[in-house]
Amino acid sequence: MTDTTPKRRLRSQDWFDNPDHADMTALYLERFMNYGTTPEELRAGRPIIGIAQSGSDLNPCNRHHLDLAKRVRDGIRDAGGIPIEFPTHTLFENCKRPTAALDRNLAYLGLVELLYGYPFDGVVLTTGCDKTTPSALMAAATVDLPAIVLSGGPMLDGWHEGDLVGSGTVIWRSRRKYAAGEITRDEFLETALDSAPSVGHCNTMGTASTMNAIAEALGMSLTGCAAIPAAYRERGQMAYRTGKRAVELVLEDLRPSDIMTRDAFLNAIRVNAAIGGSTNAQPHIMAMAKHAGVDLTPEDWQAHGYDIPLLANVQPAGKYLGERFHRAGGVPAIMWELLQAGKLDGSCATVSGATMAENLDGRESPDREVIRTYSDPMMERAGFFVLSGNLFDFAIMKTSVISDEFRTRYLSTPGSEGIFEGTAFVFDGSEDYHTRINDPALEIDENSILVIRGAGPLGWPGSAEVVNMQPPDRLLKRGITSLPTIGDGRQSGTADSPSILNASPESAAGGGLAWLRTGDRIRINLEQGRCDMLVDAEEIARRKSEGLPEIPPSATPWQKIYRETVTQMQDGATIRGAEEFRQLSRKLPRH
Ligand code: FES
Ligand code: MG
Repeated sequence: MTDTTPKRRLRSQDWFDNPDHADMTALYLERFMNYGTTPEELRAGRPIIGIAQSGSDLNPCNRHHLDLAKRVRDGIRDAGGIPIEFPTHTLFENCKRPTAALDRNLAYLGLVELLYGYPFDGVVLTTGCDKTTPSALMAAATVDLPAIVLSGGPMLDGWHEGDLVGSGTVIWRSRRKYAAGEITRDEFLETALDSAPSVGHCNTMGTASTMNAIAEALGMSLTGCAAIPAAYRERGQMAYRTGKRAVELVLEDLRPSDIMTRDAFLNAIRVNAAIGGSTNAQPHIMAMAKHAGVDLTPEDWQAHGYDIPLLANVQPAGKYLGERFHRAGGVPAIMWELLQAGKLDGSCATVSGATMAENLDGRESPDREVIRTYSDPMMERAGFFVLSGNLFDFAIMKTSVISDEFRTRYLSTPGSEGIFEGTAFVFDGSEDYHTRINDPALEIDENSILVIRGAGPLGWPGSAEVVNMQPPDRLLKRGITSLPTIGDGRQSGTADSPSILNASPESAAGGGLAWLRTGDRIRINLEQGRCDMLVDAEEIARRKSEGLPEIPPSATPWQKIYRETVTQMQDGATIRGAEEFRQLSRKLPRH
């Protein structure tokens, strides 16, 4: 057993062992006894470790944490700590309407209150499904208690009729086949179901795997944690080690503020590019940085992420799924490549207690089919491309999913590489898109650009994954599987569409998309990073007098509060002003 003699008075002792507040101590202690806890346990100055439980029947992606938590408890106990498990606000990506994006800030708020207001010395953050990871790390940054991330891990690889079928990605691909009449509705459904063969979160490099990789890249989970499939024995062993380490973090007083530094965030941006990570990483990384008090700008994505090559051959940018990625070395093998290439800051502190470079020692990939070398990548310059212009101040494009077909069609006109123009077809929200996309009167062809607005934090509200719009069925039948798309919403991390998304400011905040009309010409210049509507200023001024496009009213109290407080996507869609509250655990709440 680890030496658990406290080197300093623990925060939890202010509740459980406080001679100045004997009456309050009695009150704080007594109800914990009613399930068999003893006063000796809680009064021995042993670190009290929270297990922030994100699993429930309502979040199947994280449900496995209900079992893993047992191994976390074992680890905490063996290291001399006392576990106290509690639920967090559920965040299940695929089912929450109108979108789980609304709930990320709500889960953040809830976790901040719990970690601040209860007698915790440290916390294990159980993560998995998309927003469970950023919301937990945002709260850990605000409260600054010693904290460690335990990913639940991806599902096993999905197979359908001998082919790998990956979460989400197979749905985007199948719906194109279904629209083109190549598969039946039943085949569509069966393929989707086959992509979910076990407990765990999405097995593609969607937002869940991306955000857990980023937690590891930041140094907030133990080495190799992110990629272990949920059903593997190593997952339970990682849970045990994570629990043990949580206690040691308290004894060493190692906190998120020591780990989540600007250098760590730049590492995370680079890792995101190398894994072909989700575009949702952009707002989530900005939000985590903001709460950590780290100055990160939209330009940092272009400056530090864009020229990083794609190293992971994993869907949606590549071929394989989570199991093979894990066996190929997972996130440490990706980071090892970046470190050798001088593209990673190896001096960053991590929850292991060692530096990132020390953690990565000997982690070279044994499988070059899945994890490529830096000098022989899947694709050069695979990071997010940052755009601006008169349609928005900021938007991103995930270059690693641009298909050869798309490149040839739009980006390779001799003499004008990277510049293309098209006619805008504008949709106000996804209902409008679904109603009208197949209307023959709407003369959409291969020179069209599909635009969706009213899909940002204010407009939806919450920001929706709707920008990866597919072309009308008649174009799909001709083999045109993607058109350029632009929107102030997001795109699923599992989508393989070259969209311009997360446009800020959004239409509902008076961004340029609000003044665009169907039939306008749009010019995209990938050389200069510009995207503009070719409409003169006078005409734009005239359209402004017509007012903003309508958005739906708030349907719940939280939607109203969310709209009153949310920032734009380029700033992480955080709660305005919440970043003023920092390192809350350093001051004790009043009795
Ligand atoms: Fe939960 Fe993808 S839907 S991880
Ligand atoms: Mg998603």
